Amino acid sequence: MASFPEYRGRRFRRTSALRNLVRETMLAPSQLVMPLFVRDGKNLRRPVESMPGVAQTSPDEVIRDVERAASAGVGGVILFGIPDTKDATGSEAWNDEGAVQWAVRLIKRDVPGIVVITDVCMCEYTEHGHCGILENGEVNNDATLELLSRVSVSHARAGADVIAPSDMMDGRVKAIRSALDGAKFSSTPILSYAAKYASAFYGPFREAAESAPKEGDRKGYQMDPGNADEALREVFADIEEGADAIMVKPAGPYLDIITRVKEATGYPVAAYQVSGEYAMIKAAGERGWIDEGRVMMESLLGIRRAGADFILTYFAIEAAAKLRIAD
Ligand code: PBG
Repeated sequence: MASFPEYRGRRFRRTSALRNLVRETMLAPSQLVMPLFVRDGKNLRRPVESMPGVAQTSPDEVIRDVERAASAGVGGVILFGIPDTKDATGSEAWNDEGAVQWAVRLIKRDVPGIVVITDVCMCEYTEHGHCGILENGEVNNDATLELLSRVSVSHARAGADVIAPSDMMDGRVKAIRSALDGAKFSSTPILSYAAKYASAFYGPFREAAESAPKEGDRKGYQMDPGNADEALREVFADIEEGADAIMVKPAGPYLDIITRVKEATGYPVAAYQVSGEYAMIKAAGERGWIDEGRVMMESLLGIRRAGADFILTYFAIEAAAKLRIAD
């Protein structure tokens, strides 16, 4: 490689036309997925305090957000459900008349072009707030698999394009794949939250989804933030079980994991810029401490550059609209 003065890195940075010519990473609206919270009811829109711009909505109302997303060119939405009633097993999760199932049907009818992903987990549906069935204070992995399978089939039946299990139970991809195949949904892909860390960055989400565990934490099933080799083991286990795409979550503090997973697998990799990442940027932006719009775009570009093919982000609609203007 040449060195100074032969090498002058600045030469291709001088004008935006020159910079555009050599830009390595692009961000497109179609690579963004908007998370949406749907709850039972009609005509509901309840803002989430710790996530400005995000609201819980009823299925009839969520359509407005999906239409906004579609017209901004956003690639997909991911739905989380908040039931009116919770119980020990989270049985509302596989109710075909539940909020998520209704929302999926309405979106498929009214905005058929956008990809509909459904999050599969028990924590929003169980009264204790854990991601599976509790037995003596501990989540019973194997007993939870059957429930996750039921939920997945119910979502597929409603018309979900992609099933995304986020519970971190071992063996769930295999169980869900075989349940989907058995119900004649062998063409429905699974996006596995394979490398999901036990993160403090999920705080605002738990307010939005009303899913904080009543006792204890999720360290017994979500990953330890210090581990990277383990993420690859999780990812390969899920691929072996039939995952079609892999998710890393959170995104910003785990960019190295995104890179390693992409390089090691060559599979489609999604990254989830989670609620806490969003809330921090929003809060500092509101105070005028950072330029919110620019930090938003830079954070997303960084996640793409690390190797994510698509990004789940609460900024999806805003960022897509901004990208459209910049075109
Ligand atoms: C459900 C789930 C969580 C998130 C996505 N799916 C919360 C958790 O594991 O506690 C977090 C998303 C976010 O913080 O934006 N298990």
